[in-house]
Amino acid sequence: MRLILLGPPGAGKGTQAERIVEKYNIPHISTGDIFRAALREGTEMGLKAKGYMDKGQLVPDEIVVGVVTERLKKPDCQKGFLLDGFPRNVHQAEALDKVTEKMDIKLDGVINVDVPDEELVERLTGRRMCKGCGASFHVKFKPPKVRNVCDSCGGELYQRDDDTVETAKDRLEVYHSQTSPLIAHYDKQGILLNINGNQDMENVFSEVTKELDKIAE
Ligand code: AP5
Ligand code: MG
Ligand code: ZN
Repeated sequence: MRLILLGPPGAGKGTQAERIVEKYNIPHISTGDIFRAALREGTEMGLKAKGYMDKGQLVPDEIVVGVVTERLKKPDCQKGFLLDGFPRNVHQAEALDKVTEKMDIKLDGVINVDVPDEELVERLTGRRMCKGCGASFHVKFKPPKVRNVCDSCGGELYQRDDDTVETAKDRLEVYHSQTSPLIAHYDKQGILLNINGNQDMENVFSEVTKELDKIAE
């Protein structure tokens, strides 16, 4: 299956992606994760991306589109893929349309996770990530068993630099002005799957799988 996960910052894209890729056995391609990994490795791209990410702005299209295009050519994407956080504006969506056309493949579905803004700021500011394995927690909605310690690997938890109240609000603004028009873009293509993201993680996942199982038939 070739899928896109669309939704505002904090909607639960990463949380759902983890489960979706396991169930459907496809690679998870998160542009945000790719940039954060590049930054940890200290590459030029990582450093450049950080300047935009810390302000809650989008990394320039030419960088992002190049990264994704190369990634989609890797052999593991032949069985399908789940794009998380890409595309993020109409220009990126049109670039992806061209790439898929050139590769002679079609997207099967765009999972649109809907959550109201009020909920999102609390989700973002309460998120904690593991330094060791990248697992994601939340101080209230998914607390680790021991404070600041990862349940899976015992690693230390940290807060993402862009998860402050101020940057979270900037990211939401960017979502509404630049990313939300993609809902109409994919609705027109007839592949939009609307999911209520404002319920607990398990229920969101069962709604997602219900929709995906229909496509997989
Ligand atoms: P990116 O890393 O993609 O961040 P984002 O889109 O802002 O989304 P998040 O990762 O913050 O949220 P999520 O939806 O994955 O939620 P999660 O599951 O973690 O992008 C970061 C930056 O990189 C961008 O601002 C931009 O600068 C740059 N970038 C990336 N892609 C780009 C592109 N294509 N073009 C240009 N620039 C790009 O959940 C959040 C929290 O809520 C967690 O703590 C979780 O435990 C909790 N939670 C999840 N689900 C639920 C639930 N159902 N109920 C209660 N709590 C929940
Ligand atoms: Mg994410
Ligand atoms: Zn860990």
